[in-house]
Amino acid sequence: MSVNKNIVLMGPPGGGKGTQAVRLAAELNMKHLATGDLLRAAVAQKSDLGLKVKDILESGGLVSDDIIIALIAEQLDKMGSEQGIILDGFPRTVPQAQALDEMFKNKNNNIDYAIEIEVPDEKIIERITGRFACAKCGKGYHDKFMKPLKEGFCDVCGGNEFSRRKDDNKETVKERLAQYKQMTAPIIPYYQKQGKLVNINGDDEPNTVYQKIVNILLK
Ligand code: AP5
Repeated sequence: MSVNKNIVLMGPPGGGKGTQAVRLAAELNMKHLATGDLLRAAVAQKSDLGLKVKDILESGGLVSDDIIIALIAEQLDKMGSEQGIILDGFPRTVPQAQALDEMFKNKNNNIDYAIEIEVPDEKIIERITGRFACAKCGKGYHDKFMKPLKEGFCDVCGGNEFSRRKDDNKETVKERLAQYKQMTAPIIPYYQKQGKLVNINGDDEPNTVYQKIVNILLK
């Protein structure tokens, strides 16, 4: 099955955006565009972009709008007229949301839904500090909520090495959450005014959250 809707996945750090986007892309043949993943890849490659943003990512601050907008514009250009795009981690400020609308308008396209995954603050730190991923294929796990089926081995590729993100510590998470409330929450009324906002309770089993998103997409 393929879904042709273009969506913005919003939510606090650790809200489950990445977890849901990976499954939506795999099962509904959608295209997953995650600014956090693109930036971390640039840091790992030590590219010019990576060197510019490394400290910002590690502190939990936001990368400047001009850098991020250029990064997304480049990715959307590469995608051409593709539909079914999941934007994960973008937009994160009102100027980014305005720029995204402009980019889609220039392609005679549009965002169909902005889906806000709501998770209470007290759950965020536990989710983030327990997160890890397979070092070989990137499959995400959690110490408590999403353990590999066989301890020590990745369910997908069988790899036995895992990694944790540098910004997944208590201090940085507090800063990321503060940034979310100050800089990103204002895009909620932006999408509400356009009639595109859908809120879902993300404090639920990952599979239940997934089904709620699928119900929105198949409406
Ligand atoms: P980014 O990578 O986008 O980080 P984030 O928004 O903080 O989101 P996370 O990736 O931490 O969380 P998630 O919602 O994807 O949760 P996940 O599914 O992994 O950005 C990183 C940095 O890049 C930013 O701080 C900023 O510096 C920069 N940046 C990126 N985009 C930018 C932009 N547009 N503008 C400026 N700067 C930008 O889940 C978390 C854990 O919980 C996992 O272990 C998972 O297994 C578990 N879990 C998931 N769902 C559930 C559930 N329902 N129940 C229990 N556990 C669950």
